[in-house]
Amino acid sequence: MKHEKIEKNINLMMVLIVVAISIGGLIEIVPLMLSSDATEPYEGIEPYPALQLAGRDIYVREGCYACHSQQIRPFRSETERYGPYSVAGEFVYDRPFQFGSKRTGPDLARVGKRYSDDWHRIHLINPRDVVPESNMPGYPWLADAMIDGELMKSKLRGLQILGDPYSDEEVAAAPGAVAGKSELDALIAYLQNLGTVRSAR
Ligand code: HEC
Repeated sequence: MKHEKIEKNINLMMVLIVVAISIGGLIEIVPLMLSSDATEPYEGIEPYPALQLAGRDIYVREGCYACHSQQIRPFRSETERYGPYSVAGEFVYDRPFQFGSKRTGPDLARVGKRYSDDWHRIHLINPRDVVPESNMPGYPWLADAMIDGELMKSKLRGLQILGDPYSDEEVAAAPGAVAGKSELDALIAYLQNLGTVRSAR
C-alpha cells in the first residue's frame, strides 16, 4: 500500500529517487576523496615541466582526446597491448585529465618512448607518411608556431597557486626552458613522457 502511494505521487517519487541516487553516489565518491591512492601522486610522478605542460595544452587545444584515450583498463587485452593498467595517482597533475572515451586511435597512456622523436615529427605533420592506412589528421602548423615563454611562466605560477609543487626557480626558469621551441617540439616532449613512470616495458 505504501508503495502505491509513492507510485501515484510523482513529487514524492522524485524526492525518493534523488535520495537513493545520492546515497549510491556518495558511497562511490567519498571513499575516493579520502583514499591516498587516488589523491597522492604515484611514486615518481612530478608536475609537468614547462615544455611538456605547453605540449599538453596543445594536445587539449587540438582535441586529440576526441580520438585518443589515456586510460589503460585492467583487462588482459589492454595490458598486453599497451602495458601496465593506469592508476589514479598517475593523473594527479592533470588538470583536466585526458582519460577520453572515444578510441578511434590507440590509447596513448603509455606511448612515451615507444617511437623516436623523428617518428612523431613526421607522423604529426602527415600521419600517412609513416602509417599509410591512417585516418588521423595532420597538424603541420604546429611546426611553425612558437611557444610563448612568459605565458608558460604564468601557467606554472597559476598551477603553483593551485598547489602543484613547482619551486619558484622552476617558475622563473620556464621562459628559458621553452625558448626557441615550436608547438611541435612541445607536443612531442609531452607524448614522449606519457606513462613512462609506471611503464614496465
Ligand atoms: C580523427 C581521429 C584522430 C585524431 C583527432 C588524432 N588522432 Fe592520433 N591516431 C588516430 C589513429 C586512427 C591512429 C592510428 C594510425 C596512426 O598511427 O596514424 C593514431 C595514432 C596516433 C599515435 C601513434 C600511437 C601508437 O601507439 O601507435 C600518436 C602518438 C597519436 N596518434 C597522437 C595524436 C595527437 C597528439 C593528436 C592531436 C594533435 C591526435 N593523435 C589526433 C586518430 C586520431
